[in-house]
Amino acid sequence: MKALVLSGGTGTRLRPLSYSMPKQLIPVAGKPVLEHVLGNIRQLGVEEVGIVVGESGPAIADVIGDGGRLGLRVIYLEQDQPLGLAHCVRLARDFLGDEDFVMYLGDNVLPDGIRDVAADFRRRGPAAHVVLQKVADPRAFGVAELDTTGRVRRVVEKPQQPPSDLALIGVYFFTAAIHRAAAAVRPSARGELEITDAIQWLISHDFEVRASEYAGYWKDTGRIEDVLDCNRRLLGDLRREVAGEVDAASRLTGQVVICPGARVVRSRIDGPAIIGAGTLVEESHVGPGTAVGRDCVLRDTRLEDSVVLDGATIAGLPGLHGSFVGRSAVVTPRRGENSCHRLIVGDHTRLEIAG
Ligand code: G1P
Repeated sequence: MKALVLSGGTGTRLRPLSYSMPKQLIPVAGKPVLEHVLGNIRQLGVEEVGIVVGESGPAIADVIGDGGRLGLRVIYLEQDQPLGLAHCVRLARDFLGDEDFVMYLGDNVLPDGIRDVAADFRRRGPAAHVVLQKVADPRAFGVAELDTTGRVRRVVEKPQQPPSDLALIGVYFFTAAIHRAAAAVRPSARGELEITDAIQWLISHDFEVRASEYAGYWKDTGRIEDVLDCNRRLLGDLRREVAGEVDAASRLTGQVVICPGARVVRSRIDGPAIIGAGTLVEESHVGPGTAVGRDCVLRDTRLEDSVVLDGATIAGLPGLHGSFVGRSAVVTPRRGENSCHRLIVGDHTRLEIAG
């Protein structure tokens, strides 16, 4: 089996972060989302992975490279324009050959893995096997209708009147039959070649399509709130590991990871939390659900339930929570002058200031 990972999307809902970093590289629990994806693929015993990339391809290739570090052989397939998930399958035709493959959206996080689904697919041998989860508003997703035996009777993309509350989540297992389907579909109302339409083509042409309802945690990291939620969930799986320096006046509780070269001085860290390599935490209180990147400075600050990217400095802030701080950003209070705020804020940034 091979894998096709789709990482071409631009991530407009993740602005301003996605201006400087593709959404698939945003770290959750200290690791890019895409590495979590590739880890799940590796767990299936799959080694050959094609990653479909758009204009952020070079940034993705910089981090993932040839995949050797992750036990994979990765090749990149360029998609000039976001023309849809079935278009990605068309692009990957030569790479995939006639092998079965798992298709995985590169910004979806499933920390419990997809081994059970892969086993279902292998055991039953349908033409395609989709992964579903009940959602509150199925109109935002592809939606499946099943018969009583678990066979998929119909799939429809973002329906106004959903036939069920079972959404297609970002993982699909396919046999080579999908190539005929992908070649046959026409652009949808939003101008894309929809994988949902290709799956419906299979159903209409009497191919067997089956489904698993996924019981584990699943998140499409489309919005900052989703990234923070994922971060909290994945930090909970970390094992305590203290490689950096922690002075005698500091206290660590719970699952805390202090990476090599980090220093914790007169501070308290309540896990789950991770402090990246080379970061200084001084006179601060880091609370649960926080991931701090490499080479950051946290001084005289209280921070919880947040993600801080590499090189950022946060000082003198006693109550930050639910925050996302970008690379090399500087967040400090203004002292010694009147109490006015001073803000240098990039496009599409969101600030919520206690008033
Ligand atoms: C895509 C698929 C949709 C699926 C969703 C899962 O939607 O078209 O069927 O339910 O991913 O995240 P998009 O993210 O392109 O709106």
